Amino acid sequence: MRRVTLVTGANKGIGLEIARGLADLGDTVLLGARSAERGQEAVLQLAGEGLDVHFLQIDITDSTSVSAAVKSITNEFGHLDCLINNAAIKLEFHPSPPSSGSMAVVRETYETNVFGTMGITLALLPLLRLAGSGRIVNLTSGMGSLTLASDPDSVYSTVPLLAYSTSKSAINAFTVQLANDLRSTGIKVNAADPGFTRTDMTKGLGSEDPKVSALVAIHLATLPDDGPTGGLFDANGRAPW
Ligand SMILES: NC(=O)c1ccc[n+]([C@@H]2O[C@H](COP(=O)([O-])OP(=O)(O)OC[C@H]3O[C@@H](n4cnc5c(N)ncnc54)[C@H](OP(=O)(O)O)[C@@H]3O)[C@@H](O)[C@H]2O)c1
Repeated sequence: MRRVTLVTGANKGIGLEIARGLADLGDTVLLGARSAERGQEAVLQLAGEGLDVHFLQIDITDSTSVSAAVKSITNEFGHLDCLINNAAIKLEFHPSPPSSGSMAVVRETYETNVFGTMGITLALLPLLRLAGSGRIVNLTSGMGSLTLASDPDSVYSTVPLLAYSTSKSAINAFTVQLANDLRSTGIKVNAADPGFTRTDMTKGLGSEDPKVSALVAIHLATLPDDGPTGGLFDANGRAPW
């Protein structure tokens, strides 16, 4: 039987490539997007490639939208095998000293990257518990790594983005908390750092192609039952928190 996988923010960028990659491996993919127009367009593209992909409207900051999505998955599939928390925003573009950061930007960023991600995950947990081997993958960033950011020799110590970086540190902490909580259930929770990738989020800058960056999350989404949980991984394997 096909696994049922939800990818949030999958209408473009890395999320679209994760959706394509997992559907290509045989999953039924629910392509989450906050815009029906952008979501349907992406679904048409992937369905045209013969992939089993369905549009699911989800704005992760909107509890009504999240509840409707949970209801829809419950009615149509009765469970969820895999959740990819990909949707996120980065409102800061240029590094600036955290001491002059904007709390409005921090709040807006956390609404999506932290509260939105945590909210949809908790709302979908009952459906993930019903799957034999649930998998949760949280997209993070090297910018959220406290180990790298506190290393003066690391490039990450030179790119302070108060809102975005700390939101990803929070997602790293959430990953560990949830993985510990779910360790006995068979649900694996890991964080994926896709690397610096050419998408709208980076205004097309970056060393990686989204198709290649998607591979870390695809690997974690398809871990075998004896695979790791509570870890952070990038293209080179395990990465520092
Ligand atoms: N690109 C990089 O270099 C890089 C590096 C490290 C980590 N990451 C992480 O990788 C993930 C994907 O990034 P990306 O570069 O592919 O970004 P992107 O091209 O900007 O795509 C972000 C996706 O998230 C969606 N989204 C934003 N807010 C949402 C909300 N409230 N509800 C539902 N969907 C929402 C966007 O929808 P709309 O189209 O409607 O805006 C879009 O589909 C993110 O978690 C990002 O932090 C990226």
